[in-house]
Formats: sequence, C-alpha cells, structure tokens
Amino acid sequence: MERMIRAASPRAPRPMPVRRVDLAYAATRYWFGGNPQVTHVMNALSAAFPEGEKFFMDSVAHYRKRITDPALRQEVARFLGQEAAHTREHVAFNAWLADNGVETKHLEESVVLFLLNRGRTLPPRAQLAVTCALEHFTSLLAEQLLEHPELLEKFEPSIRKLWAWHAIEESEHKAVAFDVYEATGGKYATRVAVMAGVTVFFLLAINHMKNDLVRRDPGAQGFRHWLSGIDVMWGREGWFRRLIPGYLDYFRPGFHPWDRDSSALLRRARAALGFDPEGREAHARAA
Ligand SMILES: [Fe+2]
Ligand SMILES: [Fe+2]
Repeated sequence: MERMIRAASPRAPRPMPVRRVDLAYAATRYWFGGNPQVTHVMNALSAAFPEGEKFFMDSVAHYRKRITDPALRQEVARFLGQEAAHTREHVAFNAWLADNGVETKHLEESVVLFLLNRGRTLPPRAQLAVTCALEHFTSLLAEQLLEHPELLEKFEPSIRKLWAWHAIEESEHKAVAFDVYEATGGKYATRVAVMAGVTVFFLLAINHMKNDLVRRDPGAQGFRHWLSGIDVMWGREGWFRRLIPGYLDYFRPGFHPWDRDSSALLRRARAALGFDPEGREAHARAA
C-alpha cells in the first residue's frame, strides 16, 4: 500500500550530483592495509569497472525514452553522468596500477569483455536485470565500506578517496536501474533468475581475476597471504560475509533498494570527504 502511494504521488529526484574529483595516487603496492590478496580483489574489481559500467549505462539508456516520471528521468541522466565519471577514473586508476607493475588490461580484454559481450546478446530486458543485479552488489559493497570505518582506514589515503567517492555515488544511485526496470514493466521472476546467474558469474570472474593477478605477483603468494585475504573477505567480520543478508533481501518480492535507507550513512560519508552533506553540490560538466 505504501509503495502504491509512493509511486502515485510526485516525488523529488534523489540527490546524486555528478562530481568532479581530483585524484592522484601515492605509490603503494599493497594499498589495502598491506594485504596483497585483498588488494588484488580490489584491483580485479577496478579492472571490471570501465567495461562493466559502460554495460550498465547502455542497458539503462536503452529504456530512457520510455520513462515518463520526471524525477526518474532526471535520476537516469545523473546515473549516466556518475557512471561515466567512474569509468573515467577507474581507467586512470588501472593505468596507474599498470605503471606500478600491476597490469590488468589482459583481464579487461579477456574475462570482462568475454562475459559482457555475451551479456550484450541477451534481450534488453535481461540486460537491464543484469545491471540491477550488479548495481545491487556494488551498492552493498559500497555501503559496507562506508559503514565500517575500520575497512576504509585500511586503504592507502590517496586511493581511499577514489573508492569512498565511488562508494558514495553507488549508494546514491542504487535504485535508478531498478526503478527503470520496474517502471518499464520488468517482472520479478526475471529479476531474481538473472540475479542467481549473475551471482555465479560475478564471484567466479572476480576470483579468477584475483588469482590471475596473484599468479603474476610472487609477493602476494603463499598460504599466509591467502588466509589473511579469506579472513578479511569471508571471516567472522568479513566484508563479503556481511553482504549476505542484504544480498538475500533482493529475492524478496516487493524488494526496493531504498528499503535499506542509507541517507544518514551518506550524509556522514559525504561530509567526511568534503562534499555537501546533502549531496546538493552543483553538477560538474560532463567531460
Ligand atoms: Fe560506478
Ligand atoms: Fe553504479
């Protein structure tokens, strides 16, 4: 009932400014708390972002003309702007990684493009459902990061800014693809079936890419490093382990990304990074 009232009444667009960030990185090999395996998981994610986020943008832009709600139309424009900025900054970050001896180009060209090119053969509706699923993953990862200062503190400070900014914007626009999916008639069964498939491919791909990076890096190998990587991701206080309840929530009929209200978290995180706490800054012009 509440959902019906919310959908029927006009609403203001959620704040999701396209920000300009100034990023420069200090040379650090294992930039996540000196932990080589977790650093390579994050490097693998960064390798996947540029092509992955282009896929997200295309799948949402495909439905752009069918959206009649002015608030959602504006959010789609901002979503496209934010993801374009993320793509640009992760291309730069990946180039910086390569300059520092961590080449990820071969992974982008093999694993990431291999999967996404297959994804692009799916019907547009299923492609949008893939984006909804991956946006759910990125927003869960992002909110865990913002909620747990002890995780964020492990990042080398200059690199922390990239990931904290990206995390804030993933949380801000977490419902855009989902709302487009629902507003254009997306069905529950497709949404959850696609999520089940995406989960398998996402975990396998990230694990494969992480292992590839570790294989090329003798300093990251060995049981001790493997164990400490597992502990940070899947241990009792593990980052990925804490995602499980939020992940399962996606399978609930009637789920909506803003059922998990992250407004207070966002206010704190924006202020910590020197952004406007309410997300009201002027939009940077698209580059
Ligand atoms: Fe992004
Ligand atoms: Fe996103």
